[in-house]
Amino acid sequence: MALQHTHIEKNIGLMMILIVLTISVGGLVQIIPLFFMQSTTEPVEGLKPYSALELSGRDIYVREGCSVCHSQMIRPFRAEVERYGHYSLAGEFVYDRPFLWGSKRTGPDLHRVGGRYSDEWHRVHLNNPRDVVPESIMPGYPWLETNMLDASTIRTKMTVLRKLGAPYSDEDIEKAPDVLKDKSELDAVVAYLQILGTAVKTRR
Ligand code: HEC
Repeated sequence: MALQHTHIEKNIGLMMILIVLTISVGGLVQIIPLFFMQSTTEPVEGLKPYSALELSGRDIYVREGCSVCHSQMIRPFRAEVERYGHYSLAGEFVYDRPFLWGSKRTGPDLHRVGGRYSDEWHRVHLNNPRDVVPESIMPGYPWLETNMLDASTIRTKMTVLRKLGAPYSDEDIEKAPDVLKDKSELDAVVAYLQILGTAVKTRR
């Protein structure tokens, strides 16, 4: 046995192949079961797909790069749960395509920001954060208020998401452009922020 191991250690090519094999098997054993576990693939109870307005707000959130400074992933640590609310569950993200978990927090995590502030607070804050949080270093997004939503692609977006599993009805998709009529980008972003993390009841 000891002799065989010496053989592997002296043969770098063989050792590399065996290392890759070991890591692959180890990785697959951890990852594959997740594809079949209900808690990671099934939506949590009460989770709805994003409405036409929320979905548009989400796209603007992506466009403006909000996830560069904000994560949407509360880790199951006491400090995080006390600050942000219940830790994030995999089943809350099944309609998120792509997910916006993020990996950097210049600002606070936003996964459970829904309902924490009034719509009006968000409108003022997004326009110029320092009007409500004097020490804020977040940039203002004053154009969101004046840019009107572009409704020309919403039906296509919702149709594609439905193919991927979001339970939209024909009526949801049919009515979507009307729902977005006369709505600003700010209306959409606020609607999106207000729904975040609200499917799961938290202490906050
Ligand atoms: C340069 C980094 C940066 C970017 C980009 C950024 N933010 Fe922020 N954000 C912050 C910081 C820092 C705070 C904390 C101070 C404050 O409340 O303004 C914050 C706070 C917030 C809050 C309040 C969160 C809470 O729990 O109090 C919301 C909501 C928010 N940001 C939304 C957004 C949205 C939407 C965008 C994109 C349109 C965005 N942020 C882009 C840095 C950023």
